Amino acid sequence: MSAVLVVHGGAWAIPDELAPVSVQGVKAAARHGSSVLRSGGSLVDAVEAAVRALEDNTVFNAGHGATLKIDGEVQLDAIIVDGKTLAFGSVSCVKNIANPVSLARAVMEKTSHVMLTGRGADKFAESIGIAMVPTDKLVTECERKEWEKHKKYIAAVNEEFNTQAHDTVGAVALDSAGNVACATSTGGTRHKMVGRVGDSPVIGCGAYADNISGAVSCTGHGESILKVTLARLILSHVEQGKSVEDASQLSLQHMGDRVQGAGGAIVVSPSGQWAATFTTKRMAWAAAEDDVLWFGIDPKEKLKEKLSL
Ligand code: GLY
Repeated sequence: MSAVLVVHGGAWAIPDELAPVSVQGVKAAARHGSSVLRSGGSLVDAVEAAVRALEDNTVFNAGHGATLKIDGEVQLDAIIVDGKTLAFGSVSCVKNIANPVSLARAVMEKTSHVMLTGRGADKFAESIGIAMVPTDKLVTECERKEWEKHKKYIAAVNEEFNTQAHDTVGAVALDSAGNVACATSTGGTRHKMVGRVGDSPVIGCGAYADNISGAVSCTGHGESILKVTLARLILSHVEQGKSVEDASQLSLQHMGDRVQGAGGAIVVSPSGQWAATFTTKRMAWAAAEDDVLWFGIDPKEKLKEKLSL
């Protein structure tokens, strides 16, 4: 079976002027994650590397370029999962960390816990030598302007995923032995409350991976994703025999019908199926499979080019 690595750069109404850079960004992240896997890295190394590339790219709402919460500061969430062992690591409400996905991995590998939040997570980062960056270093001029424009949280939520808000990055991967892993990272919703935690760092909501059924990374309106436990819902459909594409569509449709939320998901199964699905206007995604790099941003778009690493 072929190894596969799929990434997304967030499901939302990506404006035309951001479409080319969003596609370039997800393609670069998929190439990077895939090259880590091909050069002998583990699945966890590969999804971490892909998500770090997206966190470092200011086009996306994670790490550098994250959206600002109500008080004008960043507040970041991330999760990483190893589907072979069900090892999870997750952080929420961190603010001085450029790559929250790596801190989530450290929680998974260096503590006996699964989730750390806020000051405790920042202190843990410091204790293991992860560089603390001044919060302002993660803020882009563009996001500062958007934040000023959308001062009212309610106004921002109403527009969410339909006009301006941008959302979350993630990666899922499968190796040739049928193991899966995933990671998700986000700045969350613009103008969110201090201390608000969305779906991304929550097990079974923003991400889930289990070698039995597959790996999922979600994006979209966090409160809606939390209410329907979207990642686990998708894998429950896969466990009942649905294809990963049908499982994603059914689950996103359910989220729309039940709680009027929109979003997207990337999924891989242990048998090598994969899908990138969304109910928002757009979602930039890319998948590295054999010598092909698949990619798209608009509904039903599935373009391909030769994968050059
Ligand atoms: N989907 C990211 C969030 O709502 O926080």
